[in-house]
Amino acid sequence: MSSLRIENACKYFGGLKAVDGINMTVPAGRITGLIGPNGAGKSTVVNMISGVYSLTRGEVYLDDQQLTRLHVDEVARRGIARTFQNIRLLPEESVLDNVVIGYFRKQQSGVMASLMGLPVALAETRRLREQAWELLGRFGIQKYADYEAGSLPYGHQRRVEMARSIAAAPRIVMLDEPVAGMNEVESAEMAEIFEDLARSGMGLLLIEHNVAFVSRLCSQVYVLDSGRMIAEGPPETVTRDPKVIEAYIGGKADAA
Ligand SMILES: Nc1ncnc2c1ncn2[C@@H]1O[C@H](COP(=O)(O)OP(=O)(O)OP(=O)(O)O)[C@@H](O)[C@H]1O
Ligand SMILES: [Mg+2]
Repeated sequence: MSSLRIENACKYFGGLKAVDGINMTVPAGRITGLIGPNGAGKSTVVNMISGVYSLTRGEVYLDDQQLTRLHVDEVARRGIARTFQNIRLLPEESVLDNVVIGYFRKQQSGVMASLMGLPVALAETRRLREQAWELLGRFGIQKYADYEAGSLPYGHQRRVEMARSIAAAPRIVMLDEPVAGMNEVESAEMAEIFEDLARSGMGLLLIEHNVAFVSRLCSQVYVLDSGRMIAEGPPETVTRDPKVIEAYIGGKADAA
């Protein structure tokens, strides 16, 4: 079983220590949570692991393989997938084609756009299109297959992005606020899919602000605050940690 590890990882932007010496493990077959207030550094962690940002210090491993200095495309090819907090689809391409692209594990680079224009990429593909079609069914959006992706409501665009991210059966997928903007029914549907994926052996990193949602799904939760990991453990322990309540949950509860 694979596991993704990030060790003593730092990302500094000039004087800003966005991520400051964190350790985290994302095992296969589990859903691992990463929570923390706005600006804590959660998306930065995803960008560091996926190769979008170089690390100021520290290492990333998939099992015993170093991923630390690999190009973003190579990290994807090794089986690390992600979604973006700000959805990144090809808005004028069909929903189905957006998912087909996911089979090319290069979707995180500018190559994505040019890929679409290649006849060979479009032609490969009866089989890929059938697989993509099935995946759309799993995410409940088959009837939108021919729609322009950009024309779908926000929650549905998120589903398209998730479908694309798991199309190539990655070992690990990092989901950056995947249910943001979804109602409770939709979130519950996504939760079932996440659990299915974990059961199939995939490792999920779930970034999410809804603590109840994370607690229900995750075996292990990490809490980031101002670039530092202030707590980690099973959700029932972490959510009672005074540091966490002060940094995050308490702050939210006060506001509510
Ligand atoms: N490319 C960048 N250049 C400079 N600063 C950055 C960059 N990316 C992120 N930051 C800063 O790093 C800090 C962490 O940002 P990040 O987006 O990782 O937080 P987050 O936990 O994902 O927040 P949110 O919950 O709002 O999505 C913030 O202060 C942010 O402004
Ligand atoms: Mg973020």
